[in-house]
Amino acid sequence: MTARFSDMIIVLSGATGGFGLRTAERLAAEGAMLVLTDRMDDPGDAFRLLPAQCWTYVGGDAAEETTAMRVVESAISTHGRLDIAINNAGIAQNLAKLHRVPSEEARKIIDIDLMGVFHAMSQQLRVMEQQNRRDGTGGSIVNIASVAGLGAAPRLSVYAAAKHGVIGLTKSAAIEYAGRNIRVNAICPSYARTPMVEAMLDGYSDEERLEAETELVRGIPMRRLADVDEVVEAILFAAAPANSFMTGQAIAIDGGLGAL
Ligand SMILES: NC(=O)c1ccc[n+]([C@@H]2O[C@H](COP(=O)([O-])OP(=O)(O)OC[C@H]3O[C@@H](n4cnc5c(N)ncnc54)[C@H](O)[C@@H]3O)[C@@H](O)[C@H]2O)c1
Repeated sequence: MTARFSDMIIVLSGATGGFGLRTAERLAAEGAMLVLTDRMDDPGDAFRLLPAQCWTYVGGDAAEETTAMRVVESAISTHGRLDIAINNAGIAQNLAKLHRVPSEEARKIIDIDLMGVFHAMSQQLRVMEQQNRRDGTGGSIVNIASVAGLGAAPRLSVYAAAKHGVIGLTKSAAIEYAGRNIRVNAICPSYARTPMVEAMLDGYSDEERLEAETELVRGIPMRRLADVDEVVEAILFAAAPANSFMTGQAIAIDGGLGAL
């Protein structure tokens, strides 16, 4: 396989999670230099499968603007530039109708899932625009939204609002920076088998779990959860430099749901 990301400097948030870790592994295998970030100060041995020379780590809460600043500063001070940013950190919502969602929970979801992406993009676009002015290069940003950003998500209203917001940021920034050689796209998965979804199914008996999974995939023409690799494939496609004319897209990876 050709190394699509040879020597590219890539920041990736939510790097110890389901999509994040697999994306990091795939990017490292294709030659990238990674600045990984997640909420814990010390990622422990989460990245043991990655070659040590191809990654560094910055811990911090994605909801804090200072985390976004430290991550981008780390890319610049270590490597001198930033080619690709993948904004993947996020939390889910406890399933509940809107009037039962505590406002503290709603605020936390908006702070992490929407403001976190805003803070990250703000820092990333600043340096990518500088790169464009300096030498004509730019960059590529991939935001991990959700099918909940493309339509109704019953019992996930605040999560859906945050993800609709991420798609709004994606499309608007794509237009604002199109003339600066910076592409901005979003990937919108339906439910996939990651720790986020496993946590939703925790505590069920085998029989109940099957029922709950059936409920999660109800309405999905392929009638199953996505595999992590099926989503990561699309993240890499959106990020890849050869995909140089695609910007402002919110791409559903949804087993056919969006075509109904
Ligand atoms: N799994 C799915 O079915 C699914 C579907 C659609 C969209 N998504 C989105 O994909 C992204 C990744 O989710 P995942 O399924 O891999 O879940 P995950 O829980 O495995 O990973 C999420 C990662 O984000 C990190 N994170 C959470 N809060 C943070 C904070 N405040 N600061 C820094 N890092 C934080 C977690 O530590 C974790 O590593 C999320 O944005 C999620 O909304 C997931």
